[in-house]
Formats: sequence, structure tokens, C-alpha cells
Amino acid sequence: MSSPQVSKVGFEHHHDGFGLGYNRPRLCWRFTTSEDTLPAWKQTGYEIEVEWLSPSRPTKSFSVESDESTLVPWPAEPLSSRSRAAVRVRVQGRGNGETGSPRETSSEWSPPSIVEAGLLERDDWAASFIAHESEPSRSDRDDDELAPHPLRFRKKFKIDNSVTSSGSRARLYITSLGVLKAYINGRRTSDEEMAPGWTSYRHRLNYRVHDVTDLLKTDATNVIVVEVAQGWYAGWLGFDGGTRFNYGKDIGVLAQLEISADQEGSQPWRLCTDTTWAVKRSPIRSSSIYNGEVYDAPEDDGLEWSQPAQERDEQRGWSATRKLPWPGGELVAPDAAPVRVVQVVDAVSVFKSTGGKTIVDFGQNLVGKVRVQEINVPKDREVTLKHAEVMENGELGTRPLRLAKATDTVISAGEPLLQWSPEFTFHGFRYAQVDGLTDSDSPLPAKENFKALVMHTDMRPRGDFTCSNEMVNQLYRNIRWSMKGNFLSIPTDCPQRDERLGWTGDIQIFAPTANFLYDSTGMLKDWLQDLKAEQMEEEDFVPPFIVPSIPTPGWSHMPAAVWDDVLILTPYALYKSSGDRAILERHFESMRGWLEHGIRRDAVDGLWDRGHWQLGDWLDPKAPTDDPAGGVTDDVLVADAYLVRVTTAFADACKVLGKADEHAKYAQQATQLRHAFQHKYITSAGNLMSNTQTGIALALRFGLYRTERERETARARLEKLVRRAGFNIATGFAGTPAILGALASVGRTQLAYRMLLEKTCPSWLYPVAMGATTVWERWDSMLPDGSINPGSMTSFNHYALGAVAEWLHGTVGGISTAPNSGWRRIRVRPVPGGTITSAAISFDGPYGLVSCEWRLDGVKFSMKLIVPPNSSAEVTLPSEQGRQTMGATTPGRVVGSGTHNFTCGFDPGEWPPEAIIAPHREAPTKDIA
Ligand code: BGC
Repeated sequence: MSSPQVSKVGFEHHHDGFGLGYNRPRLCWRFTTSEDTLPAWKQTGYEIEVEWLSPSRPTKSFSVESDESTLVPWPAEPLSSRSRAAVRVRVQGRGNGETGSPRETSSEWSPPSIVEAGLLERDDWAASFIAHESEPSRSDRDDDELAPHPLRFRKKFKIDNSVTSSGSRARLYITSLGVLKAYINGRRTSDEEMAPGWTSYRHRLNYRVHDVTDLLKTDATNVIVVEVAQGWYAGWLGFDGGTRFNYGKDIGVLAQLEISADQEGSQPWRLCTDTTWAVKRSPIRSSSIYNGEVYDAPEDDGLEWSQPAQERDEQRGWSATRKLPWPGGELVAPDAAPVRVVQVVDAVSVFKSTGGKTIVDFGQNLVGKVRVQEINVPKDREVTLKHAEVMENGELGTRPLRLAKATDTVISAGEPLLQWSPEFTFHGFRYAQVDGLTDSDSPLPAKENFKALVMHTDMRPRGDFTCSNEMVNQLYRNIRWSMKGNFLSIPTDCPQRDERLGWTGDIQIFAPTANFLYDSTGMLKDWLQDLKAEQMEEEDFVPPFIVPSIPTPGWSHMPAAVWDDVLILTPYALYKSSGDRAILERHFESMRGWLEHGIRRDAVDGLWDRGHWQLGDWLDPKAPTDDPAGGVTDDVLVADAYLVRVTTAFADACKVLGKADEHAKYAQQATQLRHAFQHKYITSAGNLMSNTQTGIALALRFGLYRTERERETARARLEKLVRRAGFNIATGFAGTPAILGALASVGRTQLAYRMLLEKTCPSWLYPVAMGATTVWERWDSMLPDGSINPGSMTSFNHYALGAVAEWLHGTVGGISTAPNSGWRRIRVRPVPGGTITSAAISFDGPYGLVSCEWRLDGVKFSMKLIVPPNSSAEVTLPSEQGRQTMGATTPGRVVGSGTHNFTCGFDPGEWPPEAIIAPHREAPTKDIA
């Protein structure tokens, strides 16, 4: 029997420790185990070794008695700008030996992790932001020919031998006003896409660090070229025509190339952007996130990469640059990984549309761009790729894109074979219409001529779920794909139409699911800083609906529940999944500001002002096509339920932070608001004013009923509503995450399963039955007859309704984190049901791999559970869950790390549950997956 081993050390929530923005990063490690790892193992101490690589200093080891293995304090002297160290850890602990008696163990050293600080001080930057000297500011009309022309900035330079000693390192610190790709001697400096990403540039601008050591030549001329396009900085953003130049009119670049040696005190060699750099228009004629890109290949002589003669430069149109003022926002090293091409998807077919157009089908609705490859196209021929998520009447269904053209164009240079994808845009699509590639009478191009390059923030996948029901598995895959498609630099509502914006409500609803599927802590933590910055500059602490904010007439500044509640619920969700109190600390004032000043309250009861407009249970299936906020549940009731929830969450956050006075104050406020809610909306018999799936689900989930008797009324009401609806869903954004958990909480898990497994519209599986490969914005984005919903809110890639995955994780798969433990204490509580006879869930979390697999053989339930070292699990088996006792359960047992097998009997109860059908109606045929 041996000790668990430790993974490489991680730094804060940073993706890899390179270019870190912290001087004292907290450290984390996860545990790995094998068959003979000691069970019930708990850490008692750790040793950290910090080997200084640059500047070189003596290696130091630190020995700490502690059971903490996540976010432990940096033990050594602080990192300074550019400093590098190799960090490794080994742990001591105690587990159960063969005889069950405690045994002390020590792990091997983890493989070393290299940490390297970025530029931590403003003074580290000697470079200037530069722009084209004379490129005029262009029109803000919606015309990409008039938008800022993509530019190539260039500098030739020599490095002599004395600079590049052995072991020297070259780093490119770079950012742009726009989006960039950099090349040294013709080779990309990194594989990042859409860098440096979208932030609230007025407050924060990301810079990136690229290791370019291998790209430089000594004693020869080097060429660095940075190509910059408008991206989010100057490009068109927003619906109803939107606005351009939201952050500035000049696109520009800031780059600092440094070569450092390891000696203490030695100054790096530097090459900085300044007015000695030249600039010219890129052969990319225009590049727009919504409209796509136009690339004029014959105009690209490629000479930028080599070393053209000076005279030739003039002829080729190189111009001078000018300095731009340093921007107001702070330059930051993000924790989030960059956006990359994370996956390449093959085309599944190429076919002719009804009207004879060539259509490529990638078989998956995804986000990224198409690469056209290995095909002969005559010179000057224009090839266009128009993207769409769905087909309608045999043609591309582009209406849901609204004003976004989503069209890329390449003008062929003739030879060699065409090999092209756009550089600075992305689209949401499954289909691409290709025009101009071949003559109309030629055979169709081969599907091998097209690849879809899937782009998103390169997060670490960590959660997975499968079960015996293939349609539910497809739903789960769809949820993952919708997360991939909408985690591109910021969390967005949708990736295809003229929005792709950081709508706060959507991520508020989806964040708990997101944190399970991928380690999105770094990315969401970065985004939350923009949210806070934009909120805190408002006197009334009301955040914009969209972060980073852009002008949205009529929408910009309006307090609203559910959406603005992101201020409390999303930092809280990140804390819950990571255990990182610092996130709550950082957002404390922002949370409090929202509660104290942002919410427009009724003067008497402190709930929301009734006259105030709310988005309510956005897009419930009964909401009129042109009024997504006009659903069946009272919008203010939804807002008030959320108000009790966020006040309670804030009180909890105060407690976690040890702020006793604030905790007492807000806990009391939550109680008062709960009473006010009860007084206003719940009759003494327990009936809720909005007798709807969403109303009752929220009241149950947020603990708003007074007594068990009222909860019993709620159960009966909800049960009737669900049976009367024939198990179709009736919730929108607000109610969807709550409905199945609400049913399970009152002991009606089989009704929850019945809803989950319903296939007719509206339901989660209706889109699956219609062939969806992502989660739709509306329950019926595509109508049963295959036509696209006429509403303007009709995306086929919105993650919000995919928040049901939280229930799949916690109840079907059966694992979640116990409160305030950040996965150190795992709650294992699977509840089988419906037609599902087995499920397997895994989560590679802060302590290592949690896995739970169960199966039903008739009425016998068996389960295999793996608990990672230094954590424990509270296990409640289905037989212990009191199906008929309102879901009140106490954990059956607590187990330590290791592999555990359990069995028990299982009583499925009523299956399938009966719908309530009016006597004069015929019972519909059952459509259960
Ligand atoms: C977005 C939504 C968003 C909503 C709020 C829509 O246009 O796509 O997901 O939350 O507006 O108004």
C-alpha cells in the first residue's frame, strides 16, 4: 500500500503559470492514485521546493504542517517581474494500512512546474502603443470597407552574439487595440486566436507573453510583424445596428521583445514598439466579428516575413507609425487561458442546396471558422463561405443571424493550392455555403477540402457524465458544445448573430454547470473583474446588462433581478466550486453595493419596487414570440424570490469571510425579506400567487415556504401543474435551473425524470429529437415542421437552458460539493429514476478525480465510488432518501478517499407517471425517451 502521488503544482487559477500576474501566487496540487493507494488518506503536511531559475538564487525548501492542498500560501520571497522558478511539492499524510490501522506515508516529489512572472509593474513597459501615422479614422457606418483596415506593423532588427548567451530566453510581451497575431521571421509567435481577448478595455487590457526563444536569429536580420484587426476594440458590436469604435478609432499595438539571461541584476535586451516601426495595410481587406473577413491573397507578397530592400519597402506602401497615448485601462496578465483552435472537425458531407448552392455540413453546430484546403482555385477567383447553424427549406437558414453577414471571402492567388482560413473572426455554424470555389457545372468539391476549426478559451475539461439513455447523453454533449461555443474569451449569450455579448443573466444561470464541465474559474474570475469595475463606476452600483458593456440604447442601465444578481451569485458559485475565499473578498463591496444601493426597493417591505420592469422568467415557452419577458410567471415575484436568494447568499459569504456583524445583519435582512415574500405571495394555505412551474420551483428551491404544510401544498400544486402539462416544460431562464431540483426536493423525483425524458415540444429532449447538436435559446428555436421560429431571439446555441446539467450532475450522476468545502467534502446522493438504468459521472476537481458509477439490476442498486485523497464523501444511497418524505435526507455515512462499493434495494415508485388529461380529451401517446 502506497502514498497517493501529487500532480504538478498549479498557480492561483492560472492556466499554466507562464506570464503570471502575481508576485505571491497561491499553490494548488491534485492527487493521483493507483490500485494500491492507502485508503482514507489525509494530508498532514507538505514540502515545497522553490528552485530559482532566474535570477539564479539558492534553491529553498519549505516544510509546512497543514492539511491544505489547494490555494496554499506562496512560501518563498515574492516573484518580481520576469522571475522564474521551478516549483515542486511532496506531501506527507496518513491513511489506513492493510490492517485498518493508521499508516504514515510520504509521496514522491511532483514533477516540477515552471512559474514565470509577467511584467508586474507599469515601469517595466518601455514600449509605446503605436498606430498608423495617417490612416484616417473611418466611418462608423455599417460597412466593413469603411471600417479600420487591418494593419501590419513591422520592425527589422539585429541581435548580436553578446546578447544571446547560452540559456538566454526571449519573450514577447504583447497586446493590441484590436486583435493580433505576431510573427517573427515568418513564424507565428504563439497559437493564440483573437488575442488579447475582450475585456472592458477602459479598465483592463490583457497582455500576453509568448516564448519566442527559438524564433530569433543571432547576427542576422530578424523581422517581427504584428498584424492587427479591429476585433472587439473598434469593430461593430451590438444588436439593432449596434455601434462601432466602442473603445477607440485607432487600432494599434504594444510589443516589447526581451532577451534575458539568468544573472541577478542583468538588464534584458529590448526591442519596443515605437515610431521606428513601419506599418502598412494588410492584404486582409476587412475583418469583422459579425460580418466575417475578406482576404485578398494576390495582394499578399509575403515579403513582410523576409527582409525586403529599403527602396522596395517604399514602393510596397510601408508608412510611418505614430505613438498613441497610454490607455486608461490597466495592463493585466489574465488567469484565463488564451483562445485557441482547440479541435478540428471533419466535414461529414458536401451537397447541393435546393437552389443549387454548394453546402458543406460539419455535422455539429460549433464555433470557429472553416479552413479550405488542398484545392486548386484560379487566380483572382473570389471564394466565399457563408455560415449558418441550420438549413431551412433546403437553403442556409440565415435569418436568425439578424444583421451579421457571417461571410468570409478569399480572393485566390492561384497557386499553390488554396489553403486558407480567416484570421480575426469566428462564426457559429454547422453549415457553410461555398460560392466560387468551382465552376457551377463542376463536380462538388470533396468533403476533405474543408475542416472546421473549433475555437474557444482553452480551459481544462474536468467533468463528464454518461448514462444508459442515449438521448440524455446527446443532451449532455449539446450542453458541452454550447459551453464551448460561448466561452470564447468572455462568457457570451450566443456565438452567431449580431450579439455574442457578455449578457450577465445567461452566465449567472449557467456558471455552476460551467465550472463542472471545465475549469472555468480563471476565465470567469477575470470576467468578474470587468463586471465589478463597470458596476463600481456607477453611483448606484447597478452593472450593465452586458459585460464588457457597450452602448445598448434602452438597455444600458436598468436594475434587474436574475441578470444583475450575477454580482452575488457568480462569485458565490466560483467560491463554491473552488473553495477560494479570496473571490468573495474581492467582490464583497460589489455585492454589498448591489444590495444596498442597486436594487430598486419598495419603501415598505424592502422587496423589489412593483412598478419596476423586469426580464422575469425570460423566454418561457408561453412568452409571446416578440416579448420574451412576457411569460406566465409574475416577473416581480421572480425578482423577489431571487432577492431573498441573493441576500441569503451574501449573508453566507459574510460568514465565510468571518464578518460576523455583516453576517448577522444580512441574515436578518434575508429573514425579513422571506417574511415579506410570504406575506405578499403565499396564502395561509400555502398557495403561491403565481401558480406556475417557475413560481413554485423558485419558492421551493430558495426555501420560501413557511411550514411543512405549505411545502406539501406546493408539492401538490407543482405536481398537478407538471402532470397537467403532460410533462412538458413551462419554465424560462429563471425557472429552468430550479424545476427538476424542486420536484426532487419534495420527493417527486420520478416526475422530474418524466420531464427530463419527455420528447415533445417544449422539453429538453425535443431539440435532441430534432437533431440538435447544441442547446437552443428557445425551447422551440426550430418548430416541429422544421421551420425556424419567427421570433428574433432564435439562436441555436445558447447555454442557459443547459443549466439542467447541474441536476444531471448532482442527482442523476449523484455528485456535488458539500457546502463551503470546495469539493473537499463530496456529497454523493444519486437518485435513479425514469428509464435510466445506469449512470457514470466523473469530476477531476481540486483534490483529484471523483467518480461515481451506478447501475440498476431490477430493484438492486449498486454503485462504485472513487473519492480522491485528502477529501471525503457523504454518501446517501437511494434506499436512504425517503422518496415520500419530502426529500428530507440526512447523509447515510461519511467515507474517506479510495474506492467504495455499495448496494441497496431500489423502489422506483410510480413509473411512468400519469398525465392529467381533461375528460373530453384523448390521452396523448407517450413520448418518453
Ligand atoms: C440575449 C439573451 C439575454 C437577453 C436579455 C438576448 O438578446 O441573447 O440571452 O440574456 O437578450 O435581454
